[in-house]
Amino acid sequence: MMGDAINIMDIDTVGLDLRDPSVVIIDQTKLPGEIVLKKLRSPQEVWEAIRRLEVRGAPAIGVSAAMGLYVIASDLAGQYEADEEGFFAEVKKQSDYLNSSRPTAVNLSWALHRMEEKLLSMAGKSRKEQVEALCTEALEIRDEDIRVCRQIGENGLKLIKDGAGILTHCNAGKLAAVRYGTATAPIYLAKEKGWNLRVYCDETRPLLQGARLTSFELFSSGIDTTLLCDNMSASLMKEGAVDAVFVGCDRVAANGDAANKIGTSVVATVAARYGVPVYIAAPTSTIDMATPTGDDIIIEQRDGSEVTDMWYEKPMAPAGIKVYNPAFDVTDHELIAGIVTEFGVARAPYDESLKEIFEKKKEITGRLS
Ligand code: MRU
Repeated sequence: MMGDAINIMDIDTVGLDLRDPSVVIIDQTKLPGEIVLKKLRSPQEVWEAIRRLEVRGAPAIGVSAAMGLYVIASDLAGQYEADEEGFFAEVKKQSDYLNSSRPTAVNLSWALHRMEEKLLSMAGKSRKEQVEALCTEALEIRDEDIRVCRQIGENGLKLIKDGAGILTHCNAGKLAAVRYGTATAPIYLAKEKGWNLRVYCDETRPLLQGARLTSFELFSSGIDTTLLCDNMSASLMKEGAVDAVFVGCDRVAANGDAANKIGTSVVATVAARYGVPVYIAAPTSTIDMATPTGDDIIIEQRDGSEVTDMWYEKPMAPAGIKVYNPAFDVTDHELIAGIVTEFGVARAPYDESLKEIFEKKKEITGRLS
């Protein structure tokens, strides 16, 4: 456990300890009360940390899984010194296992797929070289996340002005990535420029990512932060306090429909009523061109006790009540003013503009996904 003097902004959300191969995460279930760093070594520990939301947010899940797969592979390598086929099969099995921890955020399968491809490209090399290559790839996925989030910040900053009021839902902040976050990146960059933004954080029922995480990290950074319950955003927008909504996402479909934390589509619907633009901050690792529309996105369903019992001393609903608890909803592309990526802002029609974003990505990085 770390002392109170530590600022959450000074620690990466996910890191790798190379001396004692392990993934080091900030345990987000303990925030904002305590800043606790947790080490993950076994496949089960990585899986559980993602499933229990100790590490959460699409980019952070991807980085943790990639680092986790490296740690698992380094542990397995000794047993498979003379058996490359067995080693590759076991790493693939563990990758599939990690991928089963949460279904909606595409960054998870994206990062694991990159790790698998890297290993395949090292066929014929020694186990040591293969494990080193996995380590380098995991660190590159982390470094890329930092660069990409900063670039999303630069692109998002062009959409707002000094003094603006921004509403956000859930946590697409540094705690959902490695640094900067996605939806919060323009806010942190505005702060660096000396701008004064007013940021409104929806508390985000039932798991309170907005209250526990977003308001905590923004407030810790000295940003003008106001917390509100999810059912208060309409009156805030009606008062004219909100100039733009910035949210993150877990998967963007090829037509621009975007899955994000449950309640995002409510915010977007209300924003349309009051003429407030809704921007989805999305690294290209979150855009899934193989998923045609939002209807094709698998939505994680979570335990009803998160609604009835969590955070309360006693259950706040009758025992045995049926509970509807999807973790995400899909915001229709018609409600989205722009999808802010590291390669620019995609605008409607998204089936064309998202393709252009990937063409630009290929031109600049040589990568297709
Ligand atoms: O269930 P969570 O906390 O992992 O949900 C996170 C979100 O919905 C975020 O907005 C999304 O992953 C984007 S993070 C940059």
